[in-house]
Amino acid sequence: MRKHKTLEIIKNEYPGLITPYEEVKLADTTHIVGKEFPVLKHKIDALRDKDLPGSDFEKLVDEITTIMIVMATAHIKLEEYESESPICKFVGERIAGKKMAICPIWRAGDGMRPAVKRVFPKARIGSIGVYRDEDTLRPQSYFFKMPKNMSDREAYILDPMLATGGSADFAIQKVKETGCSSIYFLCIIAAPQGVDLIQRKHPDVELYVGNLDLGLNENGYIVPGLGDAGDRLFGTK
Ligand code: PRP
Ligand code: URA
Repeated sequence: MRKHKTLEIIKNEYPGLITPYEEVKLADTTHIVGKEFPVLKHKIDALRDKDLPGSDFEKLVDEITTIMIVMATAHIKLEEYESESPICKFVGERIAGKKMAICPIWRAGDGMRPAVKRVFPKARIGSIGVYRDEDTLRPQSYFFKMPKNMSDREAYILDPMLATGGSADFAIQKVKETGCSSIYFLCIIAAPQGVDLIQRKHPDVELYVGNLDLGLNENGYIVPGLGDAGDRLFGTK
């Protein structure tokens, strides 16, 4: 019900809105995690507040990412090992899955990097420098560097915003070209258009979305969204 109320308000305010929530058919590879976990929904909606100070914005992005990376790595394998607590010997379990590459899309994705690195301290970092041209909304690349042996790694591409999907599509394609075949994309807020594009072009990529919003406005911003994530994280508004 809540989403329909918001849609009505938004339709009046944003005549440029293109795809309503209901029109996207979600693939099995798309996981809208905020729907299942109220604490995540709470934190994501708090992030939208236009008056939220930059330091609080950064902290919330960090908290949301910590929760999301735990969910996105639910598949990883464990191996047994012997250890001893102060009380007795025990057989513990530790992560034994593939090596990881954390791949933030600059700038805004870099706000999600510290949380993932904290949870997986041995992970290597791959950097993807892309910005969206304000007029064409097409991705412009300015830097790309991945760790070695990407074919042996799982790549976790990070970007808080999936809008038209152009930046994500570009980033995923570049990571695939390194030989990596195990790719996860984490975003905090997505527009249906972006989800649709990634599902169609990259059906082999697992997409973790905090919240699926209603659409895009005439400037390509997610509605209701949170504005420009990079500017809010870096204080460049
Ligand atoms: C934002 C965001 C994504 C992109 C999403 O980056 O962080 O990378 O836009 O839009 P898309 O799905 O339509 O491609 P932006 O270009 O604002 O760069 P910034 O992070 O450096 O501010
Ligand atoms: N990039 C952002 O930072 N926000 C949007 O809403 C769309 C693209």
